[in-house]
Amino acid sequence: MHATMQSATLLITRESVMTSALMQNYGSPELEFDHGKGSYLFTRSGETYLDFAMGIAVNSLGHCHPVLIDALTTQANKLWHTSNLYRIEGSEKLAKQLVKHTFADRVFFCNSGTEAIECGFKMIRRHFYNKGQGQRNRIIALSNSFHGRTLAAIAAAANPVHCEGFLHGDAGFDQAEFGNIQSLEGQIGENTAAVILEPVQGEGGIRVVEQSYLKAVKDLCTRHDLLLMFDEVQCGVARTGSLYAYQQFGISPDILATAKGLGGGFPIGACLATEELASALSAGTHGSTFGGNPLAMAVGNAVIEQVSDENFLKNVRTSGDYLKAQLQTLVSNHSALLKSVSGTGLMLGLACKIEASELIARLQNEKLLVVKAGGNSIRLLPALNVSRAELDSALEIISKVLSHW
Ligand SMILES: Cc1ncc(COP(=O)(O)O)c(C=O)c1O
Repeated sequence: MHATMQSATLLITRESVMTSALMQNYGSPELEFDHGKGSYLFTRSGETYLDFAMGIAVNSLGHCHPVLIDALTTQANKLWHTSNLYRIEGSEKLAKQLVKHTFADRVFFCNSGTEAIECGFKMIRRHFYNKGQGQRNRIIALSNSFHGRTLAAIAAAANPVHCEGFLHGDAGFDQAEFGNIQSLEGQIGENTAAVILEPVQGEGGIRVVEQSYLKAVKDLCTRHDLLLMFDEVQCGVARTGSLYAYQQFGISPDILATAKGLGGGFPIGACLATEELASALSAGTHGSTFGGNPLAMAVGNAVIEQVSDENFLKNVRTSGDYLKAQLQTLVSNHSALLKSVSGTGLMLGLACKIEASELIARLQNEKLLVVKAGGNSIRLLPALNVSRAELDSALEIISKVLSHW
């Protein structure tokens, strides 16, 4: 490098390090919060924001829910970490709860969504390897999906923006078009082991799979002896009005990845599986230092107790139906600006004709937080216990911003 160019680069690097020593993969957001309560976030200077982003579908019970604070602080005063060299009561308990409420027979705990996905991928490969069919190692994913940021997860979703410069050669994944069963069938070959999909796509734009499509996928899997894995990292844990979204379709997977809302803000992930699949991960084949740690388990158990309650789930559905209907009215009233509403429960998307990022910025100016998603859309992901008054406040802000466009 030319000497002056080199010193200029060094100067820029030093200057940016002076303001932030963080890697710049998240850019440099300026908005910062000091504390939160329920559906609201507060800045140090006293500004109040209505939070319909909820840490991207993470704070399922809102900010600083008293039951979660109690669970976390009680555990924090007792025991933080021992590792999986020793039995952890909280992980036994949460695994039993997840098994009780789902298709699964066994659970592996980790710390994030992408780790839960990775566990599922490893289980799929090991399952066929153990059967003497190690050549069956390819997994089919759908277009516009998102499964996390590990090398395997980006290879599965194959989003070019996420993959560029990271993947070399064939990583063992194929892609089919979302919702197109012929496209999926066309990808099945003698090395195919499994299909992974999000019952409700999140990052790619809020899209619910059709019941008939999901049934056809399950039938294809049965016919070709393929495993079916659901990624419910975003749409799981009551977000769509059932504990897991797949339960509304009546179609069970062999493996399911869950995270985000399960910890209500505390990092936790879990991979759920049938006994047959779980047996592929015999002692020593997989692990996580922090997975299933007492703090995460204390919070996870408290979250599951709240969100698996039938009245709680009914409220999510009622709030979701109300919000969706009101958003539909907004679309009709502002058809030059908005295209459509999608989603289910409290996982709703607004496809825009205007620039979605600009809408998000203007909503933020009016103290409402929402999240961008693919397909030039915004996502509304309020706390699952959001009140009718808070829904109305958000709708009022959106309506005001659109009216002044
Ligand atoms: C559907 C889906 N899968 C996987 C992930 C990755 O989860 P994490 O960021 O916790 O690793 C996400 C995160 O947004 C997600 O939405």
